[in-house]
Formats: sequence, C-alpha cells, structure tokens
Amino acid sequence: MAATRRPGRNHLFVPGPTNIPDRVMRAMMVQSEDHRSVDFPSLTKPLFEDTKKVFGSTEGTIFLFPASGTGIWESALTNTLARGDKVLTARYGQFSHLWIDMAQRLGLDVIVQEEEWGTGAKADKIEEALRADKDHQIKAVMVVHNETATGVTSNIGAVRKAIDAAGHPAMLFVDGVSSIGSLPFYADEWKVDCAIAGSQKGLMLPAGLGVICVSQKALKAAEGQSGRNDRLARVYFDWEDHKKQNPAGYFPYTPPLPLLYGLREALACLFEEGLENVYHRHAVLGEATRQAVAAWGLKTCAKSPEWNSDTVTAILAPEGVDAAKIIKHAYVRYNLALGAGLSQVAGKVFRIGHVGDLNELSLLGAIAGAEMSLLDNGVKVTPGSGVAAASSYLRENPLSKS
Ligand SMILES: Cc1ncc(COP(=O)(O)O)c(C=O)c1O
Repeated sequence: MAATRRPGRNHLFVPGPTNIPDRVMRAMMVQSEDHRSVDFPSLTKPLFEDTKKVFGSTEGTIFLFPASGTGIWESALTNTLARGDKVLTARYGQFSHLWIDMAQRLGLDVIVQEEEWGTGAKADKIEEALRADKDHQIKAVMVVHNETATGVTSNIGAVRKAIDAAGHPAMLFVDGVSSIGSLPFYADEWKVDCAIAGSQKGLMLPAGLGVICVSQKALKAAEGQSGRNDRLARVYFDWEDHKKQNPAGYFPYTPPLPLLYGLREALACLFEEGLENVYHRHAVLGEATRQAVAAWGLKTCAKSPEWNSDTVTAILAPEGVDAAKIIKHAYVRYNLALGAGLSQVAGKVFRIGHVGDLNELSLLGAIAGAEMSLLDNGVKVTPGSGVAAASSYLRENPLSKS
C-alpha cells in the first residue's frame, strides 16, 4: 500500500531526532572524498577543538564515533572499567534504565538508587553512598543529565559537589544525549570524566555521530586497563586507536563524511547564536510549553519545578485517556509528531520535544496541534488556552538575551 501523502511540512516535535537547519542539510550534500588525503585534516582537526565548546570543556579530549548515543555509553564504560567494578547510579526513566541494563550486561556490579519517575538523581543520596564506600570500591558514578523519557533534568553541579564532599575518587560519567548543545553543560567545571552526546538532538544533525568528551583522569583509567585480564572487551570503541590517528586529523576507519561536514555547520550555527543564547532560548521555550500545559489544566510528569527539563516536556494524559491515541491522532490528522511514552509511562504521557532548531512560532504550531488532538480525543481543555498562555509568555520573553 502506498504511504499516505500528508501535505505541508511534518511538524517534528519528538525530542530527537530534531529538525535539521537547512544550511546544515546543504552542508551535508557532499561528494565522497579520500579520508586519508592531505586535505582531510583541514576539516577534522578544527572539529576536535570546536566540539569541546558545547561540552563546556577546554581540557577534555573529543572522540567521534559513527554510532548513536547508545554506542557512546558503551565506549565510556568499556574503556575505563574492568569486569566486576562497582558503579553507582540512579534509575528514574527509560534511558537511565537502559544504561544500567548495559552496565549489568557488560559485567559491572551496578549499585542502583531507585528514584520515582518524574524525579532525578539525588545528590544527597549519592554522597551518602559514596561516604559509606570507605575503601573506594565504587569506580564511577553514572548520571543521565536529562531523562528524555520523563522530561527531567538532574543537577550535575550538585552531583559533583556530592562526590567532592564525600572525598571520593570515583569518576563521573554523564549522559548528555538530550542536553548537550541545548542545556548549560560545563564538563570542566563539573569535572565530568566522560560526557556523552549524540548528533540527533541539540547538535541538530541526523543520528549516527556519537561524541564523547573525556577527561585526563578517564584517559588514565583507560590506559590503566591495558594488559589486565579482567578488562572489559573493547575493539570498535577503543579510544587507543583514535588517539593514534586523531591528532593528525585521521580516523582508524572510514568516517561518516557528510556527518562531519554537518557537524562543522551545526557548530557554526550554535556559535553564531552564542551558546548562552542557545541555553536561554531553550529555557524560554521550555517555560512557554509548561505554561500551555498549566493552561490546559494538565500536569507534567516532572514532579516539581526543580526537575523541569527545558528540552522536553512529558505531559500526563488525564485519567482514562490513552496518551498513545493523542499522539497517533496528532500525527495522522495534523501531521505533528509528538513523543511517545516509554516503558512505565507508555500510554500515560505524550511528550513535546523543544530541542534544537526551533523558535516561537514553530513551538506554537506544536502546542496548537497537541491542543487540537486533546480536544478531538475528548479531553476537556479550553480551545486556544494553551496557545494563548504560551504566546503571552513568549511575547514577554524574547528568545535572545543579547
Ligand atoms: C538521554 C538519552 N540517552 C541515551 C539515548 C540513546 O541514544 P541513541 O538513541 O542515540 O542510541 C537517548 C535517546 O533518545 C536519550 O534520550
């Protein structure tokens, strides 16, 4: 059966993959070229330096992999840890769950703090667990900065303070897949040892380029693994192979050329806008979305304002209403892609992604479409209320600081 033609633009409001700026798409339209030529490093060498800026780092080392974010989770764990090593983490959504699952399947001894979905990592509990670990068996603390499944952002600065207050030498690994490039992220200041990003969210690219920013301490931990019998197996994601090639601008295998050109252009977009402006824009769009949700009389999955995410809002459907129907109807009738509820919150939430390349009017389109789908599904919201609340807020709060 032929696919249904849906006229007009599809309004993509899942929290990744996000909309790709036209100039980034054009930058990716390139002929193949020799990735071992003398010219190639002029593309790649600046990329390793410039990419650090979105991680808030000057001291880190960037590795770029043809992979999605999941691969970069694996890269962080397998390079730095040995079989049976203890890691401390918290579970509060589908992505923190999947990273825990990976750590367990790799053979790590994972200490999990179970948190209510809609909340996030609790710095005081992390400090307590680290203080109790007198002989420093815990090698790393793993935290998902922005839990995309529930629209919750955890406070990484507070986690860093907790680790320091406990006087614990554990490394800090942070999943920034749905935060880096859109929410404030300061890898050097927070002493993040592995900061993990994917290309398809704040970096406004297609999926397929995984990025990790690695501290000196994590590089040393990786070196310390070599020769050990109990080291975790790593081949494709081994940083050693990249360390030999990257300084000269090359890769140990064939790199995804269009994504590298795309990354260069996407970084140029972010730097032209200014990272502080990018963070501010996401904060304004996030608050406008929450104003719409409040005007509808609905609740977010995030339990209290301290957990609100400025890249994605997960909205609880009213009792008895299947959120999956709201999402499907929005797509089929209005050509609007909203994010589905995952795992524990499947059928209970729909998500509006407000991450990447968007502005006031694009967001208002998504809010209008979600509102129409809610009404069509029998949810008693006042027609126009979400759009009115969000647009009033947006008129009062410019997207740009400067
Ligand atoms: C917070 C978070 N971590 C990890 C992932 C997994 O990334 P990927 O789908 O690129 O493998 C996602 C994907 O949405 C995510 O949102």
